[in-house]
Amino acid sequence: MAAGTTGLICDSSALVDSGRAVRFEITGPDGKPQPAIALRYQGRVYGYVNACRHIPIELDLEDGNVFDLSGQYLVCSMHGALYLPNNGRCVSGPCRGQSLQALPLYESDGKVWLNIMPD
Ligand code: FES
Repeated sequence: MAAGTTGLICDSSALVDSGRAVRFEITGPDGKPQPAIALRYQGRVYGYVNACRHIPIELDLEDGNVFDLSGQYLVCSMHGALYLPNNGRCVSGPCRGQSLQALPLYESDGKVWLNIMPD
């Protein structure tokens, strides 16, 4: 999925509140694929580049499990950094104060879409 395009990510029903994220890829600024996640929190959908701000590895273990047990935070599986699901800000861990790169997702007609505007 290239920058400047709109793309279907998944059905809305695939994203359960504080449940498993849907993994997808975007094309990064260098033209290479970048892993990304779509998730639902308190009824709204959010999207982030799936790269921890401590070390740029994927938050999950390729299984979409990004929420901690409380369902209130996204957790990095490597060193346990905690991120707020609604803005991607790290509130605990080695990258505290930094933020995940947010992606513009929206819901329409029972589907979740990515909309990246051209530069
Ligand atoms: S790599 Fe995510 S907290 Fe260290």
